[in-house]
Amino acid sequence: MKKITLFISFISISCFAQQTPIKPTGLVVTKAMVVSAREEASKIGVDIMKKGGNAFDAMVGTELALAVAFPFAGNIGGGGFMVYRKANGEVGSIDYREKAPLAATKDMFLDKDGNVIKGKSTETALAIGIPGTVAGVFAVHKKLGKLPMSEILKPVIALAEKGVIVTEKQERSMNAYRGAIVKINGPKTLLATEFKKNDTIKYLALAETLKRILKNGRDEFYKGKTAKILVDYLQKRGGIITMKDLAKYEAKWRKPLQFDYKDLKITSMSPPSSGGICLAQILKMIEPYDLAQMGHNTPEAIQVIVEAERRAYADRSQFLGDPDFVKIPVKALLDDAYLKDRMSTFNVEKASLSSEIKEGKVNYNESLETTHYSIVDADGNAVAATTTINDGYGSKYYCDELGFFLNNEMDDFSAKPGSPNMFGLVGNEANSIAPQKRMLSSMTPTIVEKDGKLFMVLGSPGGSTIITTVLQAILNVREYNLSMQEAVNAPRFHHQWLPDLITFEPDTFSPKTIDSLKAKGYLINEKATPVIGKLDAILVLPNNSLEGGADFRGDDTAVGF
Ligand code: DON
Repeated sequence: MKKITLFISFISISCFAQQTPIKPTGLVVTKAMVVSAREEASKIGVDIMKKGGNAFDAMVGTELALAVAFPFAGNIGGGGFMVYRKANGEVGSIDYREKAPLAATKDMFLDKDGNVIKGKSTETALAIGIPGTVAGVFAVHKKLGKLPMSEILKPVIALAEKGVIVTEKQERSMNAYRGAIVKINGPKTLLATEFKKNDTIKYLALAETLKRILKNGRDEFYKGKTAKILVDYLQKRGGIITMKDLAKYEAKWRKPLQFDYKDLKITSMSPPSSGGICLAQILKMIEPYDLAQMGHNTPEAIQVIVEAERRAYADRSQFLGDPDFVKIPVKALLDDAYLKDRMSTFNVEKASLSSEIKEGKVNYNESLETTHYSIVDADGNAVAATTTINDGYGSKYYCDELGFFLNNEMDDFSAKPGSPNMFGLVGNEANSIAPQKRMLSSMTPTIVEKDGKLFMVLGSPGGSTIITTVLQAILNVREYNLSMQEAVNAPRFHHQWLPDLITFEPDTFSPKTIDSLKAKGYLINEKATPVIGKLDAILVLPNNSLEGGADFRGDDTAVGF
């Protein structure tokens, strides 16, 4: 019902963007805000800022609180990316993405005939990359934080000890994944219990791990008792991560990618995430078209966006990987003439076709296993961070002694050129497996400026659909004048070159719109389709108040003061 109402309200959006001030419909506050996947995590971030902490302190608190309150995707057994913009306009980013272990090999997921072994990169201990989250938050705190780590970690540890209340959506997700979790960890594992809505889950083992991390610092995770327990746990299960792998792990400060779209300056994640480059390519390819004139989510606008997406994802597959291992032609990929030329084959009468790969070879993943949060503090510092263990509850390997799930991020590598991963993404040599290499990501934590001032902070989970989700939220605000919350709510669609299909969120686009695209030769994903993305964003209003956009597709919540 909710979706139908949404649909009706969105078809009534005028064909022309009204450049009247945006009317907020989400939570509005005057000073500081956190929007994240769980209210408990948003609240911990906000309380840290109320105590005088800045957005970076709040980032550390929110990230670790999500590891407690949202074990589906929040983590210390995974990794992520954070993009920031300080109040003085300085921008930066940190890469705490997982890395392949030293013993990883290019063909580790192939059989003797060179075929991909189903499930090996997702459901075995070999799927696990070296986790980066603890290194990431400590690096952020050291460089940019204000409060002592103890003040940040204490409420997180208290939350783990007091426990977190199960929501209806969480009950559903635990029911869906319990079998897989028990299969790997046995019937005594924490989430083997059939928790119901309103039950409280105490995360006592995780609380102990966090206490040790608080006492001994980041090295506890990478060199201390926690590292030893983790390596022992993994090696007993056929994993290849060693103490040396953990000891060598470092999060990396990277120069974020910056580009303009009309009057907006956009800062997003550079490789090893494909997010920034793909977002830049798509926005630059569609910039010459008058999307506002075409109307919101009309067949004409969808067509332009899809054709740009198709071309950007084709480049992603060929050229992008870990910049520490492969040379990425960033300048050439973002060159105006190149992008204009890419769109020269676009014919408004007829769909371009990606290739002969047909529907059916690839599964879209139905759920949203990564998590994004956006933060703005009272001084105007902004943080956009996306963090993941890849699949829902990662590899399902849960070390009960330490209290956390391990990622299955190795599946984000291209196990074999042209062979799709769990998101249907194909890759090539640039994203092949090598020891110590980071797997290519689609995570797109993004900050937008307008007239030299902070304008938007946003990001999303959703695997390959992250980039197109972030794209649509920016367009919804810039071209269609939607409020932040409306821009988050609006129905979404997605195309990623291969498979050559447009996916629409279920029951949100009219049959007329879909038929008119079909008539031009577009292939539509007619199967049960997933929701696309789960966007958490903040918009700075003209009077400098903050409007939160928290995604109703999850339990996401904006909190602020
Ligand atoms: O880094 C990436 O692109 C993926 N590992 C993200 C996974 C994700 O968003 C899961 N949600 N569907």
